[in-house]
Formats: sequence, structure tokens, C-alpha cells
Amino acid sequence: MFATRNSIKLAARSFSTGAALQSKVAVLGAAGGIGQPLSLLLKANPRVTELGLYDIRNTPGVAADVGHINTLSNVTGYTAEDQDGLRKTLEGAELVVIPAGVPRKPGMTRDDLFNTNASIVRDLAKACAEFCPKAKLLIISNPVNSTVPIATEVFKNAGVYDPKKIFGVTSLDLVRASRFIGDKVGKVVDVPVVGGHAGVTIIPLFSQVEGLTLTTEERDALTHRVQFGGDEVVKAKDGAGSATLSMAYAGARFADSLMRAAAGEDVLEWAFIRTDLFKNEGLEFFSTYIKLDKEGVKEILPLPKNITEFEQELVKNAIPELKKSETKGTAFVASSN
Ligand code: NAI
Repeated sequence: MFATRNSIKLAARSFSTGAALQSKVAVLGAAGGIGQPLSLLLKANPRVTELGLYDIRNTPGVAADVGHINTLSNVTGYTAEDQDGLRKTLEGAELVVIPAGVPRKPGMTRDDLFNTNASIVRDLAKACAEFCPKAKLLIISNPVNSTVPIATEVFKNAGVYDPKKIFGVTSLDLVRASRFIGDKVGKVVDVPVVGGHAGVTIIPLFSQVEGLTLTTEERDALTHRVQFGGDEVVKAKDGAGSATLSMAYAGARFADSLMRAAAGEDVLEWAFIRTDLFKNEGLEFFSTYIKLDKEGVKEILPLPKNITEFEQELVKNAIPELKKSETKGTAFVASSN
């Protein structure tokens, strides 16, 4: 169902494999623009054995609807009206995907969402730390460059932090980059995207795509398009939100990667995680190449040695902004303790 990762020659992904393990997946923000199609894709994935849906509104309807799809997983749906709903959704979860929070409107940056989404992610992360401390957390809510440090601080404060298990989902940037060069390459290939998930911190590494040659103009235009691809959707939706369908696809793909790794497959991915790669620059979070296993991150790989000077420069320029977003997230949790 998901596009094969040709460029890294990993096993083709397939939904036809039977569910090898018990995989309860919880979605927080399940009734939203991303939450609904994401729930649909997770329900369609036979690796998912139980699907727990939670939102502050409308979740029972979404649960009843996707619950009729004839895969073998059971679906529950709770709203905030049920005092115990969040606990029931989270207990036993292997993966928790969080697309809760407000999306952008035209003219907004992801950082403009901080004031609303920071406390939503903080509170949901607190619940995860309490009810499913060993689950893998997949954070979609923006600004990802700050919400991942927020969830991390919450887990540290609760004494249950495991850096192998908290991921900022940047897969949509990879999916976009792959699509934007798709016609040129003539097949679906992976394009590694590193850095972060906002404007210039999004760094597609086109140099790593076998068989792709770009002129300087093409490279510049494609890089800009990947960095600001989200704006194309926000503008086209004209006030009705940001990417939801492509994000649901990308989020379901990343969740599937984690489930495949949990079932013993070698999986290479890219996500925004805690890493020592830029420790000397004082940066703790960066999206890079990661190998996955059943615990989450098995190994963090450095950036390839042969990335171009242009790409190196993009990395260098992203660091100050990444640091700012990281500090903002960390300080937010410290100030709300
Ligand atoms: P939406 O407004 O359609 O849905 C958000 C849902 O979250 C709503 O159903 C709302 O009721 C729910 N919600 C709010 N507070 C909650 C809480 N405390 N607990 C549980 N649910 C809660 O927004 P949409 O379009 O689904 O976007 C969600 C987030 O995903 C936004 O922050 C957006 O910026 C982000 N996003 C991230 C992307 C990425 O690549 N990581 C790409 C696209 C969007």
C-alpha cells in the first residue's frame, strides 16, 4: 500500500502480511482533519490489532464508522466527556500518534501555533507518560520542532523518558520530496529529508537519490518547494486548514514502519529525534537517518559524507532556528511546572 523505498533497497512494504504482534495504536486528535483519514488507514492496516481513538469531540462517530471496516482490529472511541477516556485509550498502546491541535491558516507559520498547541501536546504527553510510558510516541502536532522537546521534557519530569521512543513525524516532507521528483525519475524513490519540520529547517538531500541529476535552478526550486510545500496546501485550502490527507498517508506510513520494525524487519526511516549528532552546536533534536527495531530507534546514522556543499550549507543555516524552537519548547515545560 505504501510506496516502495527503492533508493535504499529495503524490503518492499506491503499490507498483505499478517499481523505478527499485538499492536494497539492510539490516535489522539482522531476526529480532526488528519485524525480521521489516519484512523481509516490504521484500521486498514492488518498489523494493527486494536485502534484507540480519542478527541475532545466527535470520536464515537469516527470510531463507529471506521469500526465497520472488515479488518480484525477492534476500535474504541472516547471524548474528553468520559473522565476515564484518555486512560482507556492509552492503556496497552504500543504506538500513540498525536495529531491533536490547531492547523495553520494562510499567512501563518508553524510557530504561530505554539501558543495553542504547546499546552495540548504537554497535557497529552503527561497522560501518555502516566498510562503508556513504554509506548512509542509519534508527534504530528505543530510546531514539531518545539512539540517534540515539549513531550521529551514531560517524559523526563515523569521519570519515564526513553529517547528511542519519541519521534517528530517528518514523513510528509519525504513523501512530498519523493512526489515532486517522481515524474523526473519515472518511479517512486525515497528522498532523505533531514533537519526539522518548518521552512528552512526542512532539508531534502537530493544528492542521495540514485540516478537523479538536477540543474542548479531545478535543485533550488525543488528544495524551496519541499521546504514550503505545506504553504501550497494551506493557500489552496484558503482558510480551511493545512495538509490532512497527505499527512494522514505519511503518518500511517511511519506508524507502519515502526510496526514492521517491531515485527523484526530491518527498517530505515527519517524522523525528528533526540540525537548527539549536533551536540557540539548545542542542538539536541534533529531529523536524520534512523534504523528502527522493536524498541524504537535502534541506531542513529550520521548524515552521509557525500552530501553536497549546498546541502551542508542548508544544514548549517537550519541550526540556529532549530535551537530557538527547541529552547522555546523546553522553556515552556519548565515554566509550567
Ligand atoms: P484539525 O483542527 O482538523 O484537528 C485537530 C483535532 O485535534 C480536532 O479534532 C480537535 O478537536 C483535536 N484536539 C484539540 N485539542 C485536543 C486535546 N486536548 N485532546 C485531544 N484532541 C484534541 O487539525 P488538523 O488539520 O488535523 O491538524 C492537526 C495538527 O497537525 C496541527 O497542529 C497541524 O499543524 C499539524 N500538522 C502537522 C504536519 C506534519 O507534517 N507534522 C502536517 C500537517 C499538519
